[in-house]
Amino acid sequence: MVDVGEKPNLEVVDYEVGAEGYRDVATYDHRYTGAPAEYRQTVMSRAYRDLIGSLKGKRILDVGCGSGRGLVELAPESKFAVGCDASKDMLGVTARKLSTTPSWSLANSYAQQLPFASNSFDVVITLNFLHLFSLETQREMIAEMKRVTKPGGTIVLEFDNALNGLGVVGLFKRFFRDERGTLPWEARYVIGDGCRIVKVRSAVFPIVWRVFYKAPSIFMPLEKISYTPLLNRILGHRIYYQITK
Ligand SMILES: C[S@@+](CC[C@H](N)C(=O)[O-])C[C@H]1O[C@@H](n2cnc3c(N)ncnc32)[C@H](O)[C@@H]1O
Repeated sequence: MVDVGEKPNLEVVDYEVGAEGYRDVATYDHRYTGAPAEYRQTVMSRAYRDLIGSLKGKRILDVGCGSGRGLVELAPESKFAVGCDASKDMLGVTARKLSTTPSWSLANSYAQQLPFASNSFDVVITLNFLHLFSLETQREMIAEMKRVTKPGGTIVLEFDNALNGLGVVGLFKRFFRDERGTLPWEARYVIGDGCRIVKVRSAVFPIVWRVFYKAPSIFMPLEKISYTPLLNRILGHRIYYQITK
């Protein structure tokens, strides 16, 4: 495992064993278990898997991979998978989950300073990560993701959607609950120049997913409405940008 070494003066959200609540590595995965959470995860995964495309013969990087929820799903399909994260504890969990998967590596590093050569990955993803940081930091991190992606490669970014639930839910949370949802012009700003946005789609109808999971055969196909242009901006809780360099 590559080591992050001395902690530089960069924005970091600490996750470690024994931390409070959501940041406790030992219990982090618990919130993603159970039927409602699994329904929600499947809806999100269908949205981003399509944007990632086939991984056959490709090198993929998961930035802020955490406990490896994305990597575990994607690594077996790729030629080589790399996860990087600031938390050694999180990477320890990922390493255990990947122990029987061939061809992977983990780097203990900051997303603002990726320890990889330019143009080294076919696919770069970041899931459930960017909304933790200020816009300036997100912009720095995405600039690094663009640098390490090969020309013609694919980058898939997940943001929290500030306009989800027809604008009502997302904006309420943004202004009254301090949840860092991203507005369309903020996403454009952090994505920056030197790339092209190929597709944007959102996923997971807010609130009602807690009921929808009871009838996935009916509601799972319905969720795809949030892939449609314009509706993609105002429906789903999470919003995915597929970018090419
Ligand atoms: C909410 S978790 C997301 C993990 C994973 N992507 C997922 O979907 O479950 C956020 C992760 O970001 C990592 N992190 C926080 N600050 C970071 C930074 N500046 N650079 C890289 N990783 C960072 C944390 O250690 C944690 O594992």
